[in-house]
Amino acid sequence: MIDIHCHILPGLDDGAFSIDDSLMMAQSAFENGTRGIICTPHSGPYSYGTLVNAFRELKKEITARRIPIALYLGQEVYLTENYVRQIRDVENGYPVTINKTPYTLVEFVPTAHTRILSDAVSRLRAGGLIPIIAHPERYAAIAEDVFLAGKLKAAGALLQINKGSLKGFFGMDAMRTAAYLLDHYLADFVASDAHSPYGRSPSLRNVHAFISEQYSIDYADHLMLVNPAKVAANRAIHSYGH
Ligand SMILES: [Fe+2]
Repeated sequence: MIDIHCHILPGLDDGAFSIDDSLMMAQSAFENGTRGIICTPHSGPYSYGTLVNAFRELKKEITARRIPIALYLGQEVYLTENYVRQIRDVENGYPVTINKTPYTLVEFVPTAHTRILSDAVSRLRAGGLIPIIAHPERYAAIAEDVFLAGKLKAAGALLQINKGSLKGFFGMDAMRTAAYLLDHYLADFVASDAHSPYGRSPSLRNVHAFISEQYSIDYADHLMLVNPAKVAANRAIHSYGH
């Protein structure tokens, strides 16, 4: 499996606090079947150089410890009411897209208005980027109007569900919305959104088993292996079953 949303880089955001945390996360991910991780710290006040240094350091330590996990660099780009300027920043190279592809992991404030979600997706697409919306089930606008998820997909966005949402970690609304997205094959990815070796851990094993049981192994693979591999390799993604 490949985890496309993981706060494993040390010392940049509210994710891994130290390189030891990062290595524990990598080891635990590996032991639970993960073979690739897209490192996605929140876009923040740190510089591009700081981001790249943290990535290189983790890569070096993982190689030294012989943990066979491929790492890819990305960020979770936070889009606020200043999203027009923030999207322009991504187009200009920083914050970064995933592995230098057009795929870009984006998140919004939980109360973001429908108009902002829709307009941001159109602008990202117009700028040649492919938005992957992190945890759509956690946005009130989508929980209140699930058809919005289909509209955002029709406008060219991809949807990434958090594994924790399926277990109710983010509340009943998020759990119900995540189930709806899975039921209707609107989800493109399930990722850990792990922030530490504990609590919100990087293991995808249980959620893969859960989706295999509730839907099919093929669907679980599509969400956690096939599509993530396409992102890393910059290949096109099609809706499940198409
Ligand atoms: Fe995140």
